[in-house]
Amino acid sequence: MKIAVLPGDGIGPEITEQAMRVLTALAGDGLSVEMETAPVGGAGYDSAGDPLPEATLRLCEQADGILFGAVGGPKYDTLPRAKRPEQGLLRLRKHFDLFANLRPAIVYPELAHASTLKDEVVAGLDLLILRELTGDIYFGQPRGVRTNENGEREGFDTMRYTEGEIRRIARLAFETARKRQRRVCSVDKANVLETTQFWRDVVTDAHQEFRDVELTHMYVDNAAMQLVRNPKQFDVIVTGNMFGDILSDEASMLTGSIGMLPSASLNARNFGMYEPIHGSAPDIAGKDVANPLATILSAAMLLRHSLGQEAAAQRVEGAVRKVLAQGFRTADIAEPGKRTVGTREMGDAVLAA
Ligand code: NAI
Ligand code: MG
Repeated sequence: MKIAVLPGDGIGPEITEQAMRVLTALAGDGLSVEMETAPVGGAGYDSAGDPLPEATLRLCEQADGILFGAVGGPKYDTLPRAKRPEQGLLRLRKHFDLFANLRPAIVYPELAHASTLKDEVVAGLDLLILRELTGDIYFGQPRGVRTNENGEREGFDTMRYTEGEIRRIARLAFETARKRQRRVCSVDKANVLETTQFWRDVVTDAHQEFRDVELTHMYVDNAAMQLVRNPKQFDVIVTGNMFGDILSDEASMLTGSIGMLPSASLNARNFGMYEPIHGSAPDIAGKDVANPLATILSAAMLLRHSLGQEAAAQRVEGAVRKVLAQGFRTADIAEPGKRTVGTREMGDAVLAA
């Protein structure tokens, strides 16, 4: 099994290094993962004049999955749009048709204090937001600014979803829920938007093949409220690109630290790109203080979703739980009375666990 590792910029190289050490250690379980690194983002621009160098894309095409660090930094902010680091990320998503974005929001009991909400509301939270990533109003045509029939200028976008696009994300939601608590909540605005009434109808139809999974529907405004009021009512939330963008950022804050949250972006053949949700954190780059756990947990998702190695994924997640229980804390999740460790030392702790 081969993994393309794209460390990127800022803290990217430091955090992906720890995840690579963890993956290497799994060789002891008889799991052999071959890893090759390649530049992306600013590093791609520096080495090849392109945020997604041809050689990097070729490496990804030959791999079974991509582990991505983070891209960007002040040094690249003045480049023309096509050369900007984030283009590396966007082009990879498009090239591999990564339509499904999985963002688990897990609150480890030991870290409930880090949430902005009360302990009892979030402790033990384990929810997954499944966001459709390649359709919706973000990509619908036509769009633009025009002069309307009254001679006034107006901006417009087009919200659209094909039946096939809805069906494939719905199926993935049900399949994913089968491995969890078997509950899917589909979020839409069917009372107002035709596209999302269609979404609701197709999701309901797709559910026929998954009768062992519970399906409920919720309007997006209510979902935004319920996520803060009682997030533990949810198991899997499936929703479109725009609602998912907003709700997944909201859900990430339930857990308290951006340094803890992994993500996966998958295509129809379960090929995927796995990355922490945070950015390149230029303010702490090169200081050995970044939290590597989001990246290590992203590697666990890679094992699960693209390599079919559920036992290994659970082993890595179990090790992360153990180091948190043991009291290891990087600066972003620091707590009085618990000692603070650096990036590498956190990697050491996970390896030992
Ligand atoms: P950021 O996520 O890089 O940082 C936000 C804050 O969280 C900073 O204070 C940072 O020190 C902290 N932080 C982030 N990750 C951390 C970790 N693992 N451990 C401890 N603390 C952590 O977002 P920001 O500052 O808005 O963006 C910085 C750069 O990253 C920009 O160039 C931006 O475009 C890029 N970016 C890249 C993303 C990606 O590659 N997927 C996503 C978001 C931003
Ligand atoms: Mg967002």
